Amino acid sequence: MIEAYFAEKVPEVNRWLDQLMPPVTTPPPRIHEAMRYSLMAGGKRLRPILVLAAGEVFGGAPERLYPVACAFEMVHTYSLIHDDLPAMDNDDLRRGMPTCHKQFDEATAILAGDGLMTHAFRILAEMDAPAEQKVRVIRELAVGSGTVEGMIAGQIVDLEAEGKPIDAGRLAFIHRAKTGALIRGALVCGGIVADAAESDLALLSAYGDRVGLAFQIADDILDETATAEQLGKTPGKDAAAGKATYPALYGLEASRKQAEALAEEAIEVLAPLGQRAQLLIEMARFVVNRTS
Ligand code: IPE
Ligand code: IPE
Ligand code: MG
Ligand code: MG
Ligand code: MG
Repeated sequence: MIEAYFAEKVPEVNRWLDQLMPPVTTPPPRIHEAMRYSLMAGGKRLRPILVLAAGEVFGGAPERLYPVACAFEMVHTYSLIHDDLPAMDNDDLRRGMPTCHKQFDEATAILAGDGLMTHAFRILAEMDAPAEQKVRVIRELAVGSGTVEGMIAGQIVDLEAEGKPIDAGRLAFIHRAKTGALIRGALVCGGIVADAAESDLALLSAYGDRVGLAFQIADDILDETATAEQLGKTPGKDAAAGKATYPALYGLEASRKQAEALAEEAIEVLAPLGQRAQLLIEMARFVVNRTS
């Protein structure tokens, strides 16, 4: 079911992304070329798929779900471009291709990230949906990628923690913030544009919190266990950089167990949805069992 869902939706997400991005020839062309280079390089498209999957549970309309899905993917891709910069994780390979700053240059990569983020918010502001829904979605994307409990907060603490001892609480904060918050936001926004009830948005949020943390634990595990071919990025970088990771603190086996327990907790949260939750149940398991 899950493979079929990805196989059906990813090409559609890519089609919408292509349509929602300025054409590559738009002046000034270099920035649009760089933005598209990283955005269209592939990737699992997990965040857009989560927007769609959450939205479908509540009968959301595709014309509303896809722009939201694409906005989350643009912000995610911006976060990858900046995460790979020499001043951050200093990576050469992403999505199986040279990182944005390697293909272009650092200044262009910084601006391409900025461009993807700002374009995402423009798409949300301009989409055809009630103003109240748009404001809520814009807020969720800002919170998920922001400096208090979102991606930027997680990224700065991730960098500060390099090479230092870390405790369980701070490690969980890093992972929830740098990765989990955007994933949680994607799920909630699928619900918002599908007009889900407040109680259902709370379910999506609680599910997203568990799945988001589990996703980053799996990312840490894959950094130690997967190949560059599987990941499209260079493995083994976390230990080399002294990153605060779950395997570094708990070991691989205990990390796997924690990720699996989080997925099961996420699934339990969805119990009130009954059969409607089937796809999201499979998503939770996919997030921890993935190999790329
Ligand atoms: C990688 O995210 C960065 C993290 C937040 C862990 P993904 O593993 O979703 O990367 P893509 O989108 O598939 O390239
Ligand atoms: C990424 O964490 C979090 C982001 C916000 C991009 P990582 O630094 O572990 O992601 P990868 O492993 O480089 O994809
Ligand atoms: Mg990083
Ligand atoms: Mg990184
Ligand atoms: Mg990683």
